[in-house]
Amino acid sequence: MEHNNTVQLITTPTKIIKSQNQKLVFAVNGERFELSNVDPSTTLLQFLRSHTRFKSVKLGCGEGGCGACNVLLSKFDTNLKQIEDYIANSCLTLLCSINGCSITTTEGLGNSKDGFHSIHQRFAGFHATQCGFCTPGMCVSLFSALVNAEKTERPEATLGFSKLTVSEAEKSISGNLCRCTGYRPIADVCKSFAGDVDMEDLGLNSFWKRDAKLPKLPFYDSKQICTYPEFLKNEDFGLDSINYQNAYWHSPMSMDELGSVLLDEKSLKVKLVVGNTGISYYKEYEKYDKYIDLRFIPELSVIKISSSCIDIGATVSISKVISALKDVEADESGIVLKKIALHFEKIATEAVRNVASIGGNLVMAQRQNFPSDIATVLLAVKTKVTILKGVKKEIITLEDFLERPSLDSKSVLVSVHIPFSEQPNNGYSNISKTKRLFETYRASPRPLGNALPYLNAAFLADVSSCDSDVIIDNIQLAFGSFGVKHVVRASEVENYLVGKPLTVSVLSQSLKLARRFVSPEDGTSHPAYRSSLAVDYLFDFLYPLVDSKVNSSRGNNSSLIYNDCERTMLLSSAKQVIESSHEHYPVGEPIVKSGAAIQASGEAVFVDDIPSPLNCVYGAFIYSTKPLARVKSVNLKSEEDVIGLVSYKDFPEGGDNVGAKTIFGPEPLFANDLTECTGQRIAFVVADTQKNADMAADMSIVDYDIMNLEPPILTVEQAVEKSSFFEVPSFIYPSQIGDFSKGMAESDHQIHSAEIRLPSQYYFYMETQTALAVPDEDNCIVVYSSIQVPEYAQSVIARCLNIPEHNVRVITRRVGGGFGGKALKAMPIATACALAAYKLRRPVRTYVNRKTDMIMAGGRHPMKINYTVGFKSNGKITALHLDVLVNAGMSTDISPILPSNMIGTLKKYNFGALSFDFKICKTNHSSKSAMRGPGEVQASYIAEAVIEHIASVLNIDVGLIREINFHDFDSLKLFYGVSAGEPLEYTLPTIWDKLMTSSNFDYRVEMVNEFNRCNIWRKKGLSRVPMLHEVSLRATPGKVSILRDGSIVVEVGGIELGQGLWTKVKQMTAYGLSAVRCDGSDGLLEKVRVVQADTLSMVQGGFTAGSTTSEASCEAVRICCNVLVERLKPIKEKLEERMGSVKWEVLIMQANGQSVNLSASSYFVPEFMDMRYINYGAAVSEVEVNLLTGETKILQADIIYDCGQSLNPAVDLGQIEGAFVQGIGFFMLEEYLTNSDGLVVADGTWTYKIPTIDTIPSQLNVQIVNSGPHKKRVLSSKASGEPPLLLASSVHCATRAAIKEARNQLRSWKGLEGSDSFFQLDVPATMPVVKTLCGLDSVDFYLQSLLST
Ligand SMILES: Cc1cc2nc3c(=O)[nH]c(=O)nc-3n(C[C@H](O)[C@H](O)[C@H](O)COP(=O)(O)OP(=O)(O)OC[C@H]3O[C@@H](n4cnc5c(N)ncnc54)[C@H](O)[C@@H]3O)c2cc1C
Ligand code: FES
Ligand code: FES
Repeated sequence: MEHNNTVQLITTPTKIIKSQNQKLVFAVNGERFELSNVDPSTTLLQFLRSHTRFKSVKLGCGEGGCGACNVLLSKFDTNLKQIEDYIANSCLTLLCSINGCSITTTEGLGNSKDGFHSIHQRFAGFHATQCGFCTPGMCVSLFSALVNAEKTERPEATLGFSKLTVSEAEKSISGNLCRCTGYRPIADVCKSFAGDVDMEDLGLNSFWKRDAKLPKLPFYDSKQICTYPEFLKNEDFGLDSINYQNAYWHSPMSMDELGSVLLDEKSLKVKLVVGNTGISYYKEYEKYDKYIDLRFIPELSVIKISSSCIDIGATVSISKVISALKDVEADESGIVLKKIALHFEKIATEAVRNVASIGGNLVMAQRQNFPSDIATVLLAVKTKVTILKGVKKEIITLEDFLERPSLDSKSVLVSVHIPFSEQPNNGYSNISKTKRLFETYRASPRPLGNALPYLNAAFLADVSSCDSDVIIDNIQLAFGSFGVKHVVRASEVENYLVGKPLTVSVLSQSLKLARRFVSPEDGTSHPAYRSSLAVDYLFDFLYPLVDSKVNSSRGNNSSLIYNDCERTMLLSSAKQVIESSHEHYPVGEPIVKSGAAIQASGEAVFVDDIPSPLNCVYGAFIYSTKPLARVKSVNLKSEEDVIGLVSYKDFPEGGDNVGAKTIFGPEPLFANDLTECTGQRIAFVVADTQKNADMAADMSIVDYDIMNLEPPILTVEQAVEKSSFFEVPSFIYPSQIGDFSKGMAESDHQIHSAEIRLPSQYYFYMETQTALAVPDEDNCIVVYSSIQVPEYAQSVIARCLNIPEHNVRVITRRVGGGFGGKALKAMPIATACALAAYKLRRPVRTYVNRKTDMIMAGGRHPMKINYTVGFKSNGKITALHLDVLVNAGMSTDISPILPSNMIGTLKKYNFGALSFDFKICKTNHSSKSAMRGPGEVQASYIAEAVIEHIASVLNIDVGLIREINFHDFDSLKLFYGVSAGEPLEYTLPTIWDKLMTSSNFDYRVEMVNEFNRCNIWRKKGLSRVPMLHEVSLRATPGKVSILRDGSIVVEVGGIELGQGLWTKVKQMTAYGLSAVRCDGSDGLLEKVRVVQADTLSMVQGGFTAGSTTSEASCEAVRICCNVLVERLKPIKEKLEERMGSVKWEVLIMQANGQSVNLSASSYFVPEFMDMRYINYGAAVSEVEVNLLTGETKILQADIIYDCGQSLNPAVDLGQIEGAFVQGIGFFMLEEYLTNSDGLVVADGTWTYKIPTIDTIPSQLNVQIVNSGPHKKRVLSSKASGEPPLLLASSVHCATRAAIKEARNQLRSWKGLEGSDSFFQLDVPATMPVVKTLCGLDSVDFYLQSLLST
């Protein structure tokens, strides 16, 4: 259907400017939009979210790094009569640049009213959404891949499938982040569309039963969606300029026009734009007067191929450059160009590459020293560029271009010329035997790209063979991105190599030169690692030539150590085994998650999707950049668009400066005169739009004074020195076990005071903190908050505003990922909005930008641990003592619970005697808070580190040390008391054995050993790790009401965070009410709706945390259902006597007629003796470490987890996989770095790397065991939210095992006897960490060993 929308786009609702003649015309999901006044700095995302009903485009990062905002952009080529479709990040795309385009968002594919698209249906049916915030972007990425696959000339796919291959399907979401699912089910959705899919490979889904795999997938019709509406094809898109106030957008169509636009206004601030992706890295807070879109100038946008070179216009997108380079058919040049294309495919993400221009990249490298891949690769092949300054055109080498002073804003890069290979000019040897070699390299934490490299390199060489020697005739060695201004040629190394026969000693000397040459500038992270990468890449390039003839050695010129195909292999397979119980139907069924399809179609409403009420204004936080300082003043750079500034001076009379609270105490909302940590909230600036509020906050200037202040406490050691601690109430401090001195006396060996340091981790929920506060009558306020604890926010807001709690209504429908970060940390966000709304008497909302969120979040507790352990010669531990210094930050938050959480998990082994000392250090860091498995993940890891240490000391297999220290039931009871439950409930030994068999452990140990014997530069490691995790139930309310038509509405204290709480509650309601035994009770499930939490409707909602809220909410609901069933039963029996069978609707009608109360509420309070219990699981992980780069690939992970009788195995499976992958992030990838003041510097997707589809295990097998009846549990179920995260330590342990192999090999090269002693492997085990332990100089020792033999 076509619609007509003529919209006047303005960024501030209050200022409307007279319409111009020029107009911007485009379509969104088939609807026509025409705009005449546009602020040229407006992004497509801002427009869609604030001026249309299409809210599915989510803001996850605002920098092209997450894919949550992805849209399909379609253009019509009037000459070729073809539609071009590609994904783009709407957060970077400028609205003015989409003139004549059609936009498709996930809403355009289908919806709940007209029918969902098969993509939506499959996301739901494969259980591939949890919080659902990433899902719309995922759907669009997949849709784009499907649309483009149809355009290929491949044979038609079977009906219902696409031309997409499985591998392409998986890769289609490689630029999208998901923090909940762990990607496996999303990969299955993608693969399910592929023409070459093997249905057996697809995971658990609701479309077929496990035993009867008859494909019944929702039908995919490739022609269903028209991406470019007919009406747009006939439009005249003569846009050459558009403006808003004094800001202009120009689209010159020729170089002459460009010249005159540039010359026209010398004094104005001008920005040349192509893809506008540059603002992702170089954030722009200033406004330009003039934007000049270069894309329509033919000279800048063509690709010309001649016999000697390929000329690429500067505005050509990287994607188009890749296609063109792949298509060139020319002997050796063709190979070189194809390798360049392969390298370019690792740049950014597909969505970025589709719009980002080659010229934009090079200009960023030239002007701002951007660590470019393009510059490095093109430098090695002697590229030239044409630049235009005024009317003067110049062709210069890329090297010259990069060396010159920064290009001014009115100079234009016109084109890039990549020469084809000339025949090698051989000055040294026989021409007929020459060969050209070319290779490119990049070391980055994500194999498929979407991460800047630590170093990139490109090497081009002409080599010839003479007798048995290989001589280098010419060589170009380009190294970039390692902490230099721009890419550089290693001319000293080149000069050294040219003309010499390549021997081991020549190679060795050249590597020494390379190490000296590649020397990062001061302040660059991991300098030694980056230098060693240069050495290792050069080694990889040249070593195969040593001692062998050119022609036979490198054959197809491929690298010995790296193989692109292997590098980019994704999730090859996965298996899920679930043992469900039908005893309490529909509880126990793997039913589809409630609301999954509307999450996929973008209809699910998150807080920021609620339309802004009339008069709404927007807030942004101004935070401290000093750890301890007096705040003298806060100044805004410009007051334009600012409506107010709220700080600690603005509390109403009697109101407290409180932003969050727990039983341990409050945290202030704003710093008063003194700021006590970086990231502390100082003020909340309110403006007419979120963008203006963010800009005002970002450009604000805070005047600090540190005179006469003590230095801040920034380390736990300083906290100890100053005795700066938070108290842990004695009632939650755990008890010591046994007699430590006695245990030590019994030991044969002892390790004293070994140290471990564990870092923080950021939540990286895809939806950042957000709230909307709306003042209501009579001093009341309604606050919509994305929060895990609405009840506490209500209480904090009331205290802050000095109003009774019944005046505060906090509403939470769904949360776009929480992981603990939306508990305490969401309260100040809601409170600041409430305070500003209260002060300004108008609605106030905020959607905290990713950077501010990362700076203020706090995250997981970093800590330092020292352990002393005594053990027997067989590895049996007799005593363990821990000294733990927890860095809690500036306020208590929940930090005092850390000792009990940690000891609860640490006790997974029988340590004989266990003693400990915890200090919860008060420091000048942002307060740390609960993050999924708070303390537990660290403690579980510490236990494993101790075990590994002992194994290393005794040189005994680590698996045996684990087993000898396992609990028997008696010791379990001693360590855990009542939590241990009954002997039959201790399922860990069974799980452990089962996993041994199911993972084929013994056989794989042999295979790993064999692999390690045969491979020099790759080593594998295998590890099997057990998991115990104690959880505790808390009291929680529930309410079930039956409406007149028989539909049922349920309220619970628990919040739906994506963990499937609503789904389990729905199932429990249907089960509970089915006890009435009406006709057709099977259909009750469809009648249940769980509704948003509302603190005035359901009081005492409490915390949604600790993994047990789902089961507690279910129990609360079950109690309500029992009450209702008791009320309904007599009526039903009477009806039955009269009518035989009774239908549900009839029963409810009768009950209403008889004035039966059809609403019941409850407050489930767990019995003290039954509230704690233990969860069990185990995992085997196998990894492969690349010794040259430090890259770790997780080859396989096998998990067995005991869910009791799972309430919903599909939901629990999602929790297990998602938690495991989040754990991989903690142990392997995520560096939450701060500067020396404690200010978070890893503040966006550029620097903080959560797992992506290319970093999860290639094979992921999960088995959920049903451990049968557990009398004291909710329908025998057990928790799944947090415990599986702990299992990811198996990946870390396996990495340690692989590194151990590498170190032993290095010892042998060094001529040392025996095996390596114990080493600590840092968390996270990133590439630099791994490589450093494997030996930054391993190649040198290897060559030395060759020379000496
Ligand atoms: C998430 C993400 C990841 C990335 N990862 C990588 C990576 O791994 N490796 C890598 O090499 N790059 C990477 N990039 C950088 C990317 O390649 C560049 O952002 C992009 O190529 C810039 O092109 P653009 O058309 O978007 O430029 P724009 O943003 O439009 O412009 C960038 C700058 O160049 C100027 N400019 C543009 N064209 C011209 C011209 N013809 N003449 C004069 N000035 C001009 C503009 O005025 C502006 O100052 C990444 C980018 C993003 C967003
Ligand atoms: S919001 Fe655009 S990519 Fe993250
Ligand atoms: S479901 Fe992907 S981020 Fe939550």
